[in-house]
Amino acid sequence: MLDISSHDVVLVGGGGAGLRAAIAISEAAPNLSVAVVSKVYPMRSHTVAAEGGAAGVRLADDSLDDHAYDTISGGDWLCDQDAVEVFVKEAPVELMRLEHWGCPWSREPDGRIAVRSFGGMKNTRTWFAADKTGFHMLHTLFQTSLKYDAVTRYDEYYVTRLLVDDGRVQGVVALELTTGKVQAITAKAVILCTGGCGRVFRFTTNAAIKTGDGMALAYRAGAPLKDMEFVQYHPTGLPFTGILITEAARAEGGYLLNKDGYRYLQDYNLGTAEPKPVLRSMELGPRDRLSQAFVREQEKGRTVAGPYGPVVNLDLRHLGAKTISAKLPFVRELCLKYEHIDPITQVIPVRPVVHYMMGGVHTDLNGATPVKGLYAAGEVACVSINGANRLGSNSLPELLVFGARAGRAAAAYAAEQKPPARHLLAQALDEEARLQEQFLQKSGGREPIADLRDEMQKIMEQCAGIYRSGESLAGAAGKLHELQDRFRDIRLDDRGHLFNTELISALELSCMLEVAETMAQCAMERTESRGAHQRTDYPARNDEKFLAHSMTYRTTEGRPRVGYAPVTITRWPPAERVYGR
Ligand code: FUM
Repeated sequence: MLDISSHDVVLVGGGGAGLRAAIAISEAAPNLSVAVVSKVYPMRSHTVAAEGGAAGVRLADDSLDDHAYDTISGGDWLCDQDAVEVFVKEAPVELMRLEHWGCPWSREPDGRIAVRSFGGMKNTRTWFAADKTGFHMLHTLFQTSLKYDAVTRYDEYYVTRLLVDDGRVQGVVALELTTGKVQAITAKAVILCTGGCGRVFRFTTNAAIKTGDGMALAYRAGAPLKDMEFVQYHPTGLPFTGILITEAARAEGGYLLNKDGYRYLQDYNLGTAEPKPVLRSMELGPRDRLSQAFVREQEKGRTVAGPYGPVVNLDLRHLGAKTISAKLPFVRELCLKYEHIDPITQVIPVRPVVHYMMGGVHTDLNGATPVKGLYAAGEVACVSINGANRLGSNSLPELLVFGARAGRAAAAYAAEQKPPARHLLAQALDEEARLQEQFLQKSGGREPIADLRDEMQKIMEQCAGIYRSGESLAGAAGKLHELQDRFRDIRLDDRGHLFNTELISALELSCMLEVAETMAQCAMERTESRGAHQRTDYPARNDEKFLAHSMTYRTTEGRPRVGYAPVTITRWPPAERVYGR
């Protein structure tokens, strides 16, 4: 039985960007009704897992231009500089707003908000709440959103498609997890805030929920995905689980050591360790360079063999128990729980793991996609402020700045629109029928979901990882296409309606397969190396041909077609990326 409800704006995703957008709409237009549709209870969204901090210029010896320059050079000149300028200006305002809403930022002894250094940032500007920054930010946003009666939450609803009519997005179809009921939620505007797609890869810091759902929804509705070849590896994840060991551990003075106990990063143009550890060099280099250095060490036989592959060691022992307990309590907790080691007395085995998508749904500075009525903000979107490599601690302020902007823009748009067309309901009924026929009532089916997912993750890790080549990527594209075919023969053992997590896994897998295919395709077509996209067969950056965003469209046959769009350069012409000097 199809249920129907109606709101002015529907937000898909209840994490930081979604809640910030909901608050912005309610503040800008209190008369608009807002739906927050989330596949998990909002406090379980992946924002909660962010650890190290949020960048925003605060000190007198820092400047917005410095933050902009670090971001742009860190992104290897693929950032849109107008977006970066907006971002650095609004980031500190948003962070201070969170303070007023109750976010418990860590303090200096004199009561001022504390900041710490972060990778690739030449000044110290990262605000933090110990090493549980995401938890505290999300809690603050969640509590604040509860003040607004106009916000209705649909917790544990999975959106399966967008309702599009007359070239305008006018709502969503969602599946209620607890009952299996299909719900049509019509709206004048929809904002996607569903986060990234790290689960396409085998080793990732990303929660199991980050399956590229919003990217696939937008792509299927005709919006282009931008810069999908740029995948960020975080240099310090725990082996096997991929759990994040925050960059804050290195900001507080942690060392990365190879199997000989040597701080190997001094060999990779990231500055020196002498005469004393230099802040903002070596371990605090940008993530792309640190992850690439790991691979080089591995090739030289200087990593440590571990049960889940090669690792290096993160050494915090010299920081002492007091600093670790005060500044990095969560790091210690994670190490104790998941590795049974105590970083006060033992080194932590770490390896690069997929952490963040620089690419995503193409939007303008207000989160609007080229499809009318469809907006996106946070990791699902590509504005683009992150270019070819995001700097650590830029994503939390990004979701605030662009979540708020998307909320305000969607509110203004919705206020001008007529109510959604009644015949949209036919689309919702079609979707209900599709879910039944393709999954719940389908007979036969030989392919278990877990097998297809494992194969996809292995292919991506092996062929589209830190270093790629034309050959490896062509292999990945072919194999992913085969997986898409095999997906049609998928086998579901659970045909029930109540909490059918197997059905949700199947729907998530269909999103991941489609998104993975776009990544392999644009990586194959970008025959240069830039930031996180390193081609062994094209090792140099090629500004003449590729100072451009890739834009991937879905063809009518469901295949990716890649085009290019110019990068916006305002004040910082492309130059060499230099660290550690
Ligand atoms: O290492 C970290 O705490 C991650 C931060 C980020 O990705 O911004």
